[in-house]
Amino acid sequence: MSSSTTARSDELIFFVNGRKIIEKNADPERMLLSYLRKRLHLTGTKYGCGTGGCGACTVMISTYEPFSKKIQHCSANACLIPICCLYGAAVTTVEGIGSVKSRIHPVQERIAKCHGSQCGFCTPGMVMSIYALLRNHPEPTMEQISEALAGNLCRCTGYRPIIDACKTFCKDLDCCKIRENENCCLDLKENLLLSEKGKEICTKLFATDEFQPWDSTQELIFPPKLLLMAKEQRKRTLVFYGERTTWISPVSLKELLELKAKYPKAPLVVGNTSVGPEIKCKGVFHPVIISPIRVLELNFLNFTSNGLTLGAACSLSLVKDILTSTVSEIPEEKTKVFRALLQQLKTLGGQQIRNIASLGGNIIKQHTTSDLNPILAVSNSLLNLASLAGGTRQISLNEHFSSGFGKAILKPEEILVSLSIPYSKTGEFVAAFRQAQRRENALSIVNAGMRLILDPGTDIIMDFGIFYGNVASTTVCAKKSCQALIGRCWNEQMLEEACKLLLEEVSIPGSAPGGKVEYKRTLIVSFFFKFYLEVLQGLKLMYPHRYCDTIEKRKSIPDVFHNKIPQSSQIYQAVDPEQLSQDPVGRPLMHLAGIKHATGEAIYCDDIRAVEEELFLAIVTSSRPHAKIISIDLSDALKLPGVIDVITVQDIPGTNEFCCINEPESVFANHKVICVGQIICAVVADTDVHAKRAAVKVKITYEALEPVILTIEEAIKNNSFYDPERKLEQGNVDEAFETVDQILEGEIHIGGQEHFYMETQSVLVVPKGEDKEMDVYVSSQHPTFTQELVASVLNVPSSRIMCHVKRVGGGFGGKVTKPAILAAVTAVAANKTGRVVRCILDRGDDMLITGGRHPFLGKYRVGFMNDGRIMALDVRYYSNGGCTADESIVIREINMYKKGNQTHYKQDLDPNNLVKCWNECMEKSSYYIRKTAVDKFNKQNYWKKKGIAIIPLKYSIGFEAMFLNQAAALVHIYMDGSVLVTHGGVELGQGIHTKIMQVASRELKIPTSFIHICETSTVTVPNTRPTAASIGTDINGMAVKNACQTLLKRLQPIMDKNPEGTWKDWVTGAFRQSISLSATGFFRGYDTNMNWDKGEGRPFEYFVYGAACSEVEIDCLTGDHKNIRTDIIMDVGCSLNPAVDIGQIEGAFVQGLGLYTMEELKYSPEGVLYTRGPDQYKIPAVCDIPEQFSVSLLSSSQNPNAIYSSKAVGEPALFLGCSVFFAIKDAVAAARQERGITGTFTFHSPSTAERIRMACVDQFTKMIPWDEPESYVPWAVPVDQSLLSQQIPQEQERFQYAMDPQTDLKRVLSAATPPNTLIIFPEGQERSSLKQEQVCQTLLTLWAGVCDMGPAHGLDE
Ligand SMILES: Cc1cc2nc3c(=O)[nH]c(=O)nc-3n(C[C@H](O)[C@H](O)[C@H](O)COP(=O)(O)OP(=O)(O)OC[C@H]3O[C@@H](n4cnc5c(N)ncnc54)[C@H](O)[C@@H]3O)c2cc1C
Ligand code: FES
Ligand code: FES
Repeated sequence: MSSSTTARSDELIFFVNGRKIIEKNADPERMLLSYLRKRLHLTGTKYGCGTGGCGACTVMISTYEPFSKKIQHCSANACLIPICCLYGAAVTTVEGIGSVKSRIHPVQERIAKCHGSQCGFCTPGMVMSIYALLRNHPEPTMEQISEALAGNLCRCTGYRPIIDACKTFCKDLDCCKIRENENCCLDLKENLLLSEKGKEICTKLFATDEFQPWDSTQELIFPPKLLLMAKEQRKRTLVFYGERTTWISPVSLKELLELKAKYPKAPLVVGNTSVGPEIKCKGVFHPVIISPIRVLELNFLNFTSNGLTLGAACSLSLVKDILTSTVSEIPEEKTKVFRALLQQLKTLGGQQIRNIASLGGNIIKQHTTSDLNPILAVSNSLLNLASLAGGTRQISLNEHFSSGFGKAILKPEEILVSLSIPYSKTGEFVAAFRQAQRRENALSIVNAGMRLILDPGTDIIMDFGIFYGNVASTTVCAKKSCQALIGRCWNEQMLEEACKLLLEEVSIPGSAPGGKVEYKRTLIVSFFFKFYLEVLQGLKLMYPHRYCDTIEKRKSIPDVFHNKIPQSSQIYQAVDPEQLSQDPVGRPLMHLAGIKHATGEAIYCDDIRAVEEELFLAIVTSSRPHAKIISIDLSDALKLPGVIDVITVQDIPGTNEFCCINEPESVFANHKVICVGQIICAVVADTDVHAKRAAVKVKITYEALEPVILTIEEAIKNNSFYDPERKLEQGNVDEAFETVDQILEGEIHIGGQEHFYMETQSVLVVPKGEDKEMDVYVSSQHPTFTQELVASVLNVPSSRIMCHVKRVGGGFGGKVTKPAILAAVTAVAANKTGRVVRCILDRGDDMLITGGRHPFLGKYRVGFMNDGRIMALDVRYYSNGGCTADESIVIREINMYKKGNQTHYKQDLDPNNLVKCWNECMEKSSYYIRKTAVDKFNKQNYWKKKGIAIIPLKYSIGFEAMFLNQAAALVHIYMDGSVLVTHGGVELGQGIHTKIMQVASRELKIPTSFIHICETSTVTVPNTRPTAASIGTDINGMAVKNACQTLLKRLQPIMDKNPEGTWKDWVTGAFRQSISLSATGFFRGYDTNMNWDKGEGRPFEYFVYGAACSEVEIDCLTGDHKNIRTDIIMDVGCSLNPAVDIGQIEGAFVQGLGLYTMEELKYSPEGVLYTRGPDQYKIPAVCDIPEQFSVSLLSSSQNPNAIYSSKAVGEPALFLGCSVFFAIKDAVAAARQERGITGTFTFHSPSTAERIRMACVDQFTKMIPWDEPESYVPWAVPVDQSLLSQQIPQEQERFQYAMDPQTDLKRVLSAATPPNTLIIFPEGQERSSLKQEQVCQTLLTLWAGVCDMGPAHGLDE
C-alpha cells in the first residue's frame, strides 16, 4: 500500500495550542517536530538530535484516556511522534503557553529571570518539561522536578539556574543548611547582608517578588471537541496514506490480529521510540505501519491473586506509577519483583521517553538492551500472545531466554497482548542491577536481574536465576551456573565458584559490539558480588545471631546512587553604593533575550521562515579515512522525487581551496579523501526529506590509500606531524635531572570532546538576484570568515556577501570555521540554482563532519627533591589534531605556561589573585576538615570510597597576534532617542549583547530600554575577528565604549547648553545642528607579541585565576560515581554582570566535568565515528551536577587591562571540571591502597565508570579473562592501553616512590614551573577546531596530575 493506492486517506484531526488542525494528507513518515516547525511555523520547538536524546523538542500531549476516563497530560519528544498517532490528541507547544506579545507564562518568566537560559536553544524544551509537570502536579516535589528534567540536556548553563527556577514552584523544599547557623542557601534574609572587608557581598541573582503568581486553574483546557471525539473515535479504523508508507490504526484486537496476519512484516508502533530511531539512523523502511494504541485490550491493567497483568501498549510511565502505588500498598515480601522493576524504571530513558514508550515495545524490541527483560525473565513473568491463526498462547520469558538463544520472541503474525508479573514469595531475594555511561537517560552498559530462594531456615540454595542484558545479542541466562550452584551454601566458597562459572558461561568476545569488554566481564561478577552481599544482609536481618560478624566489610555495600536535591550558592561583590541606579554595569541583569528564549520567540537560523521555491541541501560525506575517489555515481540520487541537482566541486566558480591558518584545506574533497566525514558533494531537493533520501543514494567508489592514522600513537609511529615543532626551554634540564633526589615519569591521555552545542550547524543562503549579492544567514562564531570563504568559492568580492548572525545556539569553539565551509557549499548550490538554499545538519552528520576538542597525550619526566620541590621537568605534548590544520596551530602558539611570577615565555605575572582564590577556596570548602572526613569514611567502607581534590587555575587571555584582538562597533542614535548598537561579537549565549548594552548604557548615560542590538553582520561591522577565546566582551566592549564616547562628545555642548533637557531633546538638538548621530568605534587590540625564536614574549594581556574543590563518592564495584560537592572561587575582576558571569562559570565547569569524567568519542577501526548523537555520546545531565554547588567571585579584584576592570569569563572554568577527575582519582587511590597497591598509577581522562572500575583493582578484575591484544579486532580503536596496564601488577609498581608528606603544594603552585623546564609540543594531526584552553588544560592537568600523584602520600595536604 502507498500513495499510489486510489483509496483516500482519513482526515487526521488534532489540536495544537487550542487550534483545531484537520490534515487531509497526513504522511505517516512525518514527525510532529517537522510538522510544527515547517507546516504550522511553530518554530519554538527545537531540533537537537531527532532521536529522543536531548529534550529540545519537548511538547505536551494531552489525551482523554477512556480506561481511566481522565485527561492525561504528558511531556513527549516531538521528534519521535508520528503525526498519525495524534488523532484526537491536543498538543501544547511553548508558543501555546505564553508569548511576549500577550502574556508570558510563569514557567517562562521564572526560567528567564533566574538566568536559566544562555544560548536559549534548550530553553523551550526545558519550559515544556516543567509545564507538563505542573499540569499534573501544581506543587511538585524536587524529586519530581529532577525526574521531569532528566531527559533535557543543556550545554550552557550547568543546570543550576534552571533548577533554581523550578524550586520556586516547590512547596517541600528541604533546607540545605549550607550556610552558617544552618541557614539555607536560598534564605533570602541572608542576602545582601554578608560583608567582607567593608565590601558588600550579594548572594541574590534574582528577585522572587517580581514573579507572577502561579495559578494552575488558568491553563488551557482540554478541547471539548476532542472529548466528544474520544467517545466516537473507537468506532472505526483510521488509515493514512503517505508518499511511501501507509498507517493503519485499528480499534479492536480482532482487527489488529487480521492486520498482523495480512502484513506480518509491519511493525506495531506505539511510542515509536525504537522504530523511529531505526528509521532515522539505520535507514529502515516500512511500507505499512500498524498502530495499536486505540486497541483497548492492549491498554489495561488487572490485579489477580498471582500478580499484576498489564496491557502491552501501556506506557512505561504508567507502569512505573502503578508499581509505585502498589509497593506502598501491599506487603514488601510480595513486591520484590515490582521493586526491582521500579529501580530500573526510575533511570530508564528520560520522562519524555517513558511517557510514550510502551512496555510491549521494550520487551519485544529491546531484547538486547532492555532493562526490564532480565527481571521479567528471572521472576518468571509471562507473555500473553495472540495471532489470528494460532489463537492465544502464553510463554515464560525465563524459558524463552534460557532455551532459545537469539530466537525471536514472537512468530511473524503474532502480537504481545499483555504481560503478567507475579508477586514475589516469602524468603525470595530479587535484585536488579544496571550500570550506564550516565546514571539517567542512558542505555545500560550491562544490566542484570537476579533471584534466589534458599531452603527455609538455612542458607542452602534451592532455586536460583541470573539474567544479563547487553552482553550478547539477546538477554542471556546464566542457566548452567545457577543449576550447578543449587544445593550449595550461600558463602564465600560458593561466591568464588559462582564467579568462575559465570565468567565461563557468559563469555563476551574481545570484538563484541560496544567494546568495554573487560569492564563488562568485571560487571558480570561485580553485580553478582553485590547480590551476594545483599542476600547476606537479608540473612543477617532474618537471623541476626548467625550472621552477626560475617563480613564487616559489607557495611559499605554501595547503594544505587540517588539524586539529591541540588543545593547551591552564588556570591559576588555588590556595586558601589554611589553608582547611579540607572547604571546597569555590575548588576545581575537577565539575558537580553532570556524571555524570548523561554517563549520560543527567539529566532535562530533554521527558524527563519521558508520562502517559496526554497531548496534544502544534504551533504554527502566520505566513508573512508584515507582513499582515492575513483568514481561518483549520481544517477540513482538524481532519479528520486524532489531532487533538483547534485552539487560537486565542478560547480565552484571560484576556488575550492582555502587556508584557515597556514595549511591548505578544501571545501569539497577532490580526487582524494583524508578522513571519514569529509564533504564530497551535496544534494539539493525541494524538501529536507527528499534531499537526505537522495544523499544516501550517491555511490562513491574508492581505492584505499596508506597510511590510515587514527590515534596519536599511530601518528607518532608514522612521523605525521604539523610543522613547526614548538619548544620552550628554560635552564639546563639535563643538568637539573642530575641533581634531583627522585625522578618520576609517565604519561597521561586526555580524551577529546565533542562541543555538542544544542543547535546543529545551520546556514541559509539567499541569492539577491543582482550584482551577485547574497545574504548568508549562518550560525557562526566568525561571520567574517564565512563571508570571505563564500566570496572566494563564488569568485566575487567580499562586498557582495552579506553575512548575518542573529544568535547562535551554542558554539564553544565549534562554530568558528566549520560553518564557513558549510556556507560555502550552500552558497555554491544557491549560485547554481538561483534559489534560496537551506542546510541544517542532522546531529549525526554534525558530529561526524565537524570534529571537536582534541585528544592529548602528555609524556612527562619530573625531577624533584625529597621536600617536594620540583627542580626539573621534561614534558612532551602530542595533540591529535585530525587531518587538517584548521585553527590549532595559532591556538597552540598562544597557550604557554608560567614560572613563578614569570611565565615560560618570560611574561610578568602577578600570582596574588591566584593565591587569594586558592586560599579562599581552601577556606570556603573547609578542605582540611572534609579531607579528614573523607579519610574516615574510606577507612569504614571497603566497596565505596570518597575522594576530594582542590585544583588551581591560571588561564591566559587574549590572542598572541595583536590584530586578532581588534574589534569595531557602529552606534546610531535615531531622532526618537532610540539607539542601535552593532558590534563584531556574536551572541552565543554568553550574554555578550547583554553586557554590551550595559556598556552603552553606562557610556551614553541612558537606560538600557533605549538601546537595541539587532544582529551581528558583515554589513555593519566589517573584518570582525571570531567571537572566541573568551575575549568577545573585552574587545567589542572597548569598541562600543569608543563609539559611545565619540557620540557623547558630540552631544556634550548641546547637553551643557540645556542641562535640564531630556535625552530626546539633546538628540533632536544635535540633528537640527547637523551633528552626526552615528559613530564607529574601534579597539586596536592588546599589545601582545611572541618571539618563538627566543621562546619569549607577552602573548597574553592578562590572566584569569580560580580554584575549585570537588568531592565525590565512587562505587568500587561498578565504577559509578556521584558528585557530592564543588566550591569554586573565580577571579573575574569587577564583574560586568554577576548573573551572566556566574552562569558562564557554572556552565563551563559542568562542560569540563563532562570532558574529564564522562564524554568519550569512539571510532571504529576503520576510522568511523560511532558516537554521533546523545544516545551514544553522553554529556552531563541534571543528575550529574554536584549536590552542593557554590560559586563565589573573588572580591576586590581589579584588572586595568579590560573594560571597567572586568575579566574574560567564558572558557576558564571549563578546566576546573578536572577537580572532579582528581577527586575521583583520590577515591580510586584510596581503594587501591586498601587493596595493597601502593604505587602511583596512570589514570587517563575521562574518568568513566569503566576506568574507575578497572582501576579499583580487586579479586573480580583479576579473575576475568584478558584477551591477547593481537587475538581480536576490537570494536573501537583503543586510544590508550591504560585499562590493560591497570591490570598488570608489575605495571602498577613501576612508578613506586617515596614522597615526603610535607610537600609544599602552594609553592608548587606559585612556582608552577620548575627552574629547569623543557616543554615540547610536537604538532599533532588536526581534526578541527581546538579551543585554546586545551593546551593550558593539559599542562595544568599534568601539573595537577604531578601534584596529585598520590594523595595517599599526602601531597594534597
Ligand atoms: C532516548 C532513549 C532512551 C532509552 N533508554 C532506555 C533505557 O535506559 N533502558 C531501556 O531498557 N530502554 C531504553 N530505551 C528503549 C525504549 O524503552 C524502547 O524503545 C521502548 O520501550 C519501545 O517501546 P515503543 O512503544 O516506543 O516501541 P515502538 O518503537 O513503537 O515499537 C517497537 C517494536 O516493538 C514491536 N512491538 C511493540 N509492541 C508490540 C506488541 N504489543 N506486540 C508485538 N510487537 C510489538 C513493534 O513491532 C516494533 O517493532 C530508550 C529509548 C530511547 C529513544
Ligand atoms: S530533538 Fe527530539 S529529543 Fe532531541
Ligand atoms: S542554554 Fe541550554 S543549551 Fe544553551
